[in-house]
Amino acid sequence: MTADLIIHNIKTIYTPYLSPPVRGSMMNSIHEIHNAFIAIKDGVIIDFGAGDYQKYESEDTIFHDAHQQIVLPGLIDSHTHLVHAGSREDEYKMLQNGVPYLDILKNGGGILGTVEKTRNASIDSLYEKAYHSLDEMMLHGVTAIESKSGYGLSLEHETKQLLVNQMLNTNHPVQVLSTYMGAHAVPKEYTHDKARYIENIKKDLTRIQELSLADAVDVFCETGVFSIEETRNILTHAKNMGFRIKMHADEIHSLGGTGLGVELGCSSVDHLMAISNEDIKKLAQSHTIANLLPGTSFYLNKDYANARHMIDSNVAVSISGDYNPGSCPTENFQLIMQLASNKLKMTPEEVLNAVTINAAYHLGLDNQIGSIEVGKKANIVVMRAPNLSYIFYHFGVNHTKDVIINGKFVVKNRQIVREI
Ligand code: NIG
Ligand code: FE
Repeated sequence: MTADLIIHNIKTIYTPYLSPPVRGSMMNSIHEIHNAFIAIKDGVIIDFGAGDYQKYESEDTIFHDAHQQIVLPGLIDSHTHLVHAGSREDEYKMLQNGVPYLDILKNGGGILGTVEKTRNASIDSLYEKAYHSLDEMMLHGVTAIESKSGYGLSLEHETKQLLVNQMLNTNHPVQVLSTYMGAHAVPKEYTHDKARYIENIKKDLTRIQELSLADAVDVFCETGVFSIEETRNILTHAKNMGFRIKMHADEIHSLGGTGLGVELGCSSVDHLMAISNEDIKKLAQSHTIANLLPGTSFYLNKDYANARHMIDSNVAVSISGDYNPGSCPTENFQLIMQLASNKLKMTPEEVLNAVTINAAYHLGLDNQIGSIEVGKKANIVVMRAPNLSYIFYHFGVNHTKDVIINGKFVVKNRQIVREI
């Protein structure tokens, strides 16, 4: 077999190689292949390693010299609120003055402020803003993301957000997995009738499924938002319909969301700054991934999730950006990885497993993406760095040089390549 594209003269390929979920001490295990090449055909990796690549050469083969830089699998950001209108810099000052995040929401701001703006926004303006943010993520080496609704809070406006996900997935090179999050907050018009809003969510799921607009359902399980019993009600219904389920759990208060997530078979439980020791033990016995979001702790000036305790207790961890206008307004996924290293005390190898194969696993994509492996999609990042540790040490800057998605260059020499 000949290749359409061969990347050669790679200083080192760093890739996960274990079957996910990669948990506990295994998270420190990755493969390093020095002086390597990767051969690609029809968007798929056909071989890689330190051997001879000439055998894959034909007269049509394109060669790309990596000039002794390092290569990683495409990064996966498995928790974002990409599609929304407006920004919330006015709240930044309030947060800095010590006003609690949940108080801003209780007073009709926070998520509900973005809901108002998103309801008033056209689908085209939402698409344009999200497309631009997705470009920014891709420039940082991200090749697949999860994107939630949750700023519409009615069938019409949730559908609008989910349609933007669908349009992005079709038109942008980054793969976009769509999650319905009608249970992100209780909309103002239902403040006094939450039970009816929950019944509407369950009804709306039928329409969303008919339109194939989402493959997962998420709930914000938190004091003053959705309780444990309300979360159980929504997620049990979603699961019975065949959706993948997940939760924003134990973010601010320790409600036991993680325990519920494990019991219901959530693919991930996300945030976990306030997780109990008992729930860490439950996670370690499950296939549910602990999806940690250190950028949110950084921006809100809150405690960080205890990743060390989780990994040392044999939990499988992924790391995500949580890009959103209220608790983590950044698309810089490398900064998130650097925070995971510096604040969560994770090793470079643990972070790599967390942002590739474990993320792919809880999105249900681990047989297609998440590692450099024969038969997987050729989603590859060339980083201008001498080794993996360097990316975490030299923080706050973008190390990405080239990005390849499905065997095609989408970023070359730090510039986006658009298909004509
Ligand atoms: O993951 N915690 C709830 N949802 C988002 C924040 C959304 C917002 O503030 O707009 C989060 O942090
Ligand atoms: Fe979130």
